[in-house]
Order: sequence, then structure tokens, then C-alpha cells
Amino acid sequence: MSAQDEKNKAAASSPIVIVFFVVGLAVSLLVGWSIFPKLLYSQKKQPIDFSHSIHLDAAGDCESCHYFREDGSFSGIPELSNCVECHEEAQGEDPEEIKLIENYIEPNKEIPWLVYSRQPDCVFFSHAAHVNMGELECKTCHGMIGESDHVEIYEENRITGYSRNIWGKSIGGFKSNTWDRMKMDDCAECHDEHGTRQACFVCHK
Ligand code: HEC
Ligand code: HEC
Ligand code: HEC
Ligand code: HEC
Ligand code: HEC
Repeated sequence: MSAQDEKNKAAASSPIVIVFFVVGLAVSLLVGWSIFPKLLYSQKKQPIDFSHSIHLDAAGDCESCHYFREDGSFSGIPELSNCVECHEEAQGEDPEEIKLIENYIEPNKEIPWLVYSRQPDCVFFSHAAHVNMGELECKTCHGMIGESDHVEIYEENRITGYSRNIWGKSIGGFKSNTWDRMKMDDCAECHDEHGTRQACFVCHK
């Protein structure tokens, strides 16, 4: 083969190389950004769709459902009795409200809500320390849940069992808001800024 033939062959194969490169890139982006997260996280639906924005108007403020008890402990997600106050009788015709009444209020069964921010059992967390003493806003750690119109799908990491809200929304590990992730380093980062104690026993039981 002459030098000229070599050149021609290289020129002819280069478009193929480019095609392979582009296809390969597209496949890895697809796997990385859309298939991998689907494999890594299983999706669970909340038992009923609950609109925070409707209820903020109806109930007035967050504290009417999420409050501190006399002993300083945090009520967390309200119990069914809190819903019965207004939903003993249907307030409207929303199918989600009918589900609430038929599946939970009439048989008097607590609603099995999934907690997006649930930490593993070894972690100690107190709302009183953060909200009352630290004067932090709910949004700092939970984002816009308090203003939302619908519940989000709960995503559980198949390997670690963590909620995606803890593990991080971005597969690449990027964080643009304080509420995008709540792993150990994220807790520690804010504790550093506030000069809070960092010993293991502060956060671990
Ligand atoms: C202060 C009164 C009040 C309380 C307390 C209350 N609701 Fe409601 N709820 C309303 C009103 C008003 C509507 C709007 C009814 C309509 O116009 O369809 C509503 C609508 C709903 C709906 C249908 C709309 C939507 O959100 O998707 C669901 C489901 C619902 N409520 C669930 C609950 C649950 C669960 C609780 C307890 C954690 C609760 N509500 C507590 C007043 C209340
Ligand atoms: C009428 C009662 C009611 C009111 C008022 C209310 N919430 Fe809720 N909240 C709920 C219920 C029920 C859930 C469970 C369903 C869900 O996750 O949306 C919940 C869940 C949450 C969660 C999810 C926690 C987690 O990690 O799963 C956050 C955060 C929250 N509420 C913040 C707020 C804030 C902030 C406000 C005020 C702006 C507020 N809520 C007002 C009833 C209420
Ligand atoms: C410093 C971060 C931080 C702040 C501020 C904060 N939370 Fe939380 N919240 C968490 C963490 C972490 C959990 C999970 C705790 C666990 O699993 O033990 C949680 C859990 C919850 C839950 C579910 C609790 C349950 O077990 O049922 C609700 C509801 C909630 N928070 C609402 C609120 C509201 C309302 C505010 C504002 C008044 C608030 N949070 C402020 C970090 C925070
Ligand atoms: C956005 C800031 C912020 C984040 C995020 C945060 N904290 Fe804190 N935390 C504070 C501040 C500020 C205090 C001190 C409150 C005070 O005593 O004035 C505190 C106090 C505490 C305390 C009590 C400390 C003591 O000395 O008794 C514990 C336990 C704790 N945090 C655990 C956690 C855990 C676990 C996480 C992550 C899931 C977390 N925190 C995330 C700001 C934060
Ligand atoms: C500011 C709070 C905080 C402090 C201080 C802290 N941790 Fe953690 N740690 C967490 C949180 C939140 C998690 C769960 C989320 C995660 O895995 O990142 C965790 C998870 C862990 C885990 C993994 C547990 C599991 O079930 O997956 C280990 C191990 C651990 N911590 C060890 C330590 C040790 C050792 C220290 C002291 C050098 C320490 N932690 C200090 C908050 C803290």
C-alpha cells in the first residue's frame, strides 16, 4: 500500500470514528443520567396526594400541623385526628379527599406517609435544636415542600435504603441548594459555619 492509499483509508474511516464516538457518548449519557438513576432508585407513591398550598390557606400556618409539644419534641407529620377536625365530612369533591375519608378516616387507620428526610436509625436529630435554638427556617433543609401543590414521588436508594432527599438529587453529587442533600458532610458543613460541636456522639446514638 502506498502512502497515498494509507491517507485515503484514514480519511474514509474518520467519519465512522466520529459516528462511534457520538453514539458512545449518547449511550453513556443516557445510562448515566437517565437509566442509572432508575436502576439505583425504586419509586414509591405517597398513600394520598396532599396539597400543602390548599392546606396552608385552610389551616393558616405550618404550626397548626407541625408543632412542638410541651416537652419540646416535634410532632412531625400530623396524625389522622388532625385531619378529622376538618374532614369528618367531605369538604369538596376531590377524589384524593374521598380516598382520605374512605380508606383512612372511616376505618380509623393512620396514613402511612413516607418521610423524604428520614435519616438512618443511628442518627440523632432534634427539630427543637434547629428551629427554636438555631432559628433555622424549614426551607433551609426541606426546600419548597411547605408550598407545594402535590406530593413528590418518594425515591429509595436500592443499595443503601436511603431516601433520595438524603442521598442527593444529583447523580453527579452536585448541590446547588442547602436542601438538595442531607448527608453527614452536609450536616457538618452547616455546623462548622455555626460553630456547633462536631463530636461523633452529638449526631450519633
Ligand atoms: C383546617 C381544616 C383542614 C385540616 C386540618 C385538613 N384539611 Fe384537608 N382540606 C381542607 C380544605 C378546605 C380542602 C379543600 C376542599 C376542596 O375545596 O376540595 C381540603 C382538601 C383536602 C384534600 C384534597 C385536595 C388535596 O390536597 O389533594 C386532601 C387529600 C386532604 N384535604 C387531606 C388532608 C389530610 C391528610 C389532613 C390531615 C393531615 C387534612 N387534609 C387536614 C381543610 C383541612
Ligand atoms: C393541614 C396540615 C398541614 C399543614 C398546615 C402543613 N403541613 Fe407539612 N405535612 C402535612 C402532611 C399530611 C405531610 C405528609 C405528606 C407530605 O409529605 O406532603 C406533611 C409533610 C411535610 C414535610 C415533609 C417532611 C419529610 O421529610 O417527609 C415538610 C418539610 C413539611 N410538611 C413542611 C411544612 C411547612 C413548611 C408548612 C407551612 C408552610 C407545612 N408543612 C404546613 C401536613 C401539613
Ligand atoms: C436543620 C435542618 C432542618 C430544619 C431547619 C427543619 N427540618 Fe424537618 N427534618 C430534618 C431532618 C434531618 C429530618 C429527619 C429526622 C429523622 O429522620 O430523624 C426531618 C423530618 C421532618 C418531618 C418528618 C418527621 C417525622 O418523623 O414524621 C417533618 C414533618 C418536618 N421535618 C418538618 C419540618 C418543619 C415544618 C420545619 C420548620 C418548622 C422543619 N422541619 C425544619 C431537618 C430539618
Ligand atoms: C443549616 C444548618 C444546619 C444543618 C443543615 C444541620 N444543623 Fe444541626 N445544628 C445547627 C445549629 C445552628 C445548631 C445549634 C443550635 C443551638 O444550640 O443554638 C445545631 C445543633 C445540632 C444538634 C444539637 C447539638 C448539641 O450540641 O446538643 C444536633 C444533634 C444536630 N444539630 C444534628 C444535626 C444532624 C444530624 C444534621 C443533618 C441531618 C444537622 N444537624 C444539620 C445547624 C444545622
Ligand atoms: C453533624 C452531625 C454528624 C456528626 C458530627 C457525625 N455524623 Fe456520622 N452521620 C451523620 C448523618 C446525618 C449520617 C447519615 C447520612 C450519611 O450516611 O451521610 C451519618 C452516617 C454515618 C455512618 C454511616 C452509617 C450508616 O448506617 O450508613 C457512619 C459509620 C458514621 N456516620 C460515623 C461517624 C463518626 C465516626 C463520626 C465522628 C468522627 C461522625 N459520624 C460524626 C451525621 C453526623
